[in-house]
Amino acid sequence: MTDKSRVLIFDTTLRDGEQSPGATMTHDEKLEIAMLLDEMGVDIIEAGFPIASEGDFEAVSAIAKASKNSVIAGLSRANYKDIDRCWEAVKHAARPRIHTFIGTSPLHRGITNLGTEEMLERIQDTVAHARNLCEDVQWSAMDAIRTERDYLCRVVECAIKAGATTINIPDTVGYTLPSESSDIIAMLLEKVPGADEVIFATHCHNDLGMATANALAAVSAGARQIECTINGLGERAGNTALEEVVMAIKVRKDLMPFTTAIDTTKIMHLSRRVAQVSGFPVQFNKAVVGKNAFLHESGIHQDGVLKNVETFEIMRPADIGLTETNIAMGKHSGRAALRTKMRDLGFELADNQLNDVFVRFKALADRKKEVYDDDLIALLTDSTANT
Ligand code: KIV
Ligand code: ZN
Repeated sequence: MTDKSRVLIFDTTLRDGEQSPGATMTHDEKLEIAMLLDEMGVDIIEAGFPIASEGDFEAVSAIAKASKNSVIAGLSRANYKDIDRCWEAVKHAARPRIHTFIGTSPLHRGITNLGTEEMLERIQDTVAHARNLCEDVQWSAMDAIRTERDYLCRVVECAIKAGATTINIPDTVGYTLPSESSDIIAMLLEKVPGADEVIFATHCHNDLGMATANALAAVSAGARQIECTINGLGERAGNTALEEVVMAIKVRKDLMPFTTAIDTTKIMHLSRRVAQVSGFPVQFNKAVVGKNAFLHESGIHQDGVLKNVETFEIMRPADIGLTETNIAMGKHSGRAALRTKMRDLGFELADNQLNDVFVRFKALADRKKEVYDDDLIALLTDSTANT
């Protein structure tokens, strides 16, 4: 990749996202989400973990066959059987990728029972095997953040020498903070021979609510691939949310002089479809895609956005494909908002009519959490009947 300002978006909704307990999707649902991701401009879609089940293998193969633009990746552990199965599934794609990983921290080395030197041999062996099958090989140091820094440099160097083209530095347990996230990428770029020949990826989990900040910090230090999921779906507290990093890069060009290929107007539709098929609803106040993300209820805020939308909005709803109104009617709303809302609903109110509806609207809003369009129309009808 020659454009140093371009950040690749690697979506793992269908692999890490689907690993959330209860988020399993059907074959057809996965295919539908993959096609939407492809159309939205996602650079790499991690379609699944082919060795995990027959169903996952079939889904990855189908997505590989149907994809038009995106690179299609499958996950595999560091052994030949996993890697071969992964290749069988992704090889149908116009642009296939094998993604292979091993846990490199002391805790993970304990589990695989591999000493540091044995692990290096395993990495050399499995990455070279993957590279014999596929030109595009991503290697991940699972739990990289809790791996000794010197050893992390050694495993990364080994993977690069064996032929990996992308090196992923995951914060598997959502433990890091932005300063550390950027320091690690900067250190690897500075110390590891061959580091400038590969793309560094950041893969953050959200256990401390830092996934977006940590991913952006890694990019500031030189990472050029962000691994993320729609709505931040993922194990435990989830992964970096695609919509958050993409919109942060778009909104804060002054601090993040980077670009992605994402058509942001497709974000809302994807968010809603992923929520439906995964059965994981989006929290109301979720950044970017929450139901309340562009809603204003208090009179001061409503008055502000009616006069100049930028007073309380840093993005436009249309940027993410939202067309609905941004005014929520509730007990904090003022007269100006009520007049505008009524106008949007097709009713131009005279001052005395507005006063009358406003009094009854406030009484209703004290009893109801949210006053819907139909409630307002009913108030108006009552008011016309009373005059
Ligand atoms: O969180 C993680 O470390 C992962 C790897 C498999 C990339 O999901
Ligand atoms: Zn993960």
